[in-house]
Parts: sequence; structure tokens; C-alpha cells
Amino acid sequence: MFVEVTKLDEIAPGGMKAYEVNGKEIVLCNYDGKIYAVSRRCGHMNSPLEMGTLEGYILTCPLHSSQFDITTGEALSGPVPTDLGNEPIPENLMRYFQYVSTIQSKIKTYNIETYPVKVEGNSIMVDV
Ligand code: FES
Repeated sequence: MFVEVTKLDEIAPGGMKAYEVNGKEIVLCNYDGKIYAVSRRCGHMNSPLEMGTLEGYILTCPLHSSQFDITTGEALSGPVPTDLGNEPIPENLMRYFQYVSTIQSKIKTYNIETYPVKVEGNSIMVDV
């Protein structure tokens, strides 16, 4: 059943925003003037996707940079190791980062859910 989530002018072109609808966390994305609704939680380790970046139809997770196609929910790529830059890092801390990076690289990235969207006047309606 479609429910009104927000108004069309709330989602800027190229932007995204998180909402909770009927107990589900979703992100509305404005790609090329069309609104898409996807799960808010990353298919890798549940990071809040609205904190990532949206370039065209590709949403990149803020935590480990897995990428998703917002039109289908398909996981396009998995996590990438965090760039620690060139600053010297104490050896113990470096070992810890390497350990965490090894573990997170073994966690599968699943597709994210998508939801049907329709726009009626200025209202964005989503079927969750
Ligand atoms: S939580 Fe999104 S890529 Fe790891």
C-alpha cells in the first residue's frame, strides 16, 4: 500500500534523505529528476546509506564504500579497505586496522531492497 512519505521539493536533485515508514528505514534518492526508494541499511554491515554519496544512480556507502544501483538495489561492488593516508600509525594500531579490514572484507555485500515509488502532485508516495 502506497503511503505519502514527503513532498517532492524535500529531495534536491542528486540528493537523498532518510525516512522511517511503517517501521522500515528507507532512503529516497533523486536521480535525474526521478525519485527512487531503497533500504536505508547497507547490504554489507548496515551502515546508514544516506550518509554516503550519490553520483548518478550509484550510491556509495559511507563506511566501506560498497556501491549500489539505486534503480535495482544491486550491489555493484563490495567493501574496500580504508585509506589510512600517509600519516605514521603506531604498529599496534596498524595491526588492529589490518585485522578489522581482513574481517570486514570477508563479509558478503548483499543487494539492498528497493520500493515502488509514485509521485502524485507534490507528494512522494512509497509502497513499503
Ligand atoms: S557497511 Fe556499507 S560497505 Fe560496509
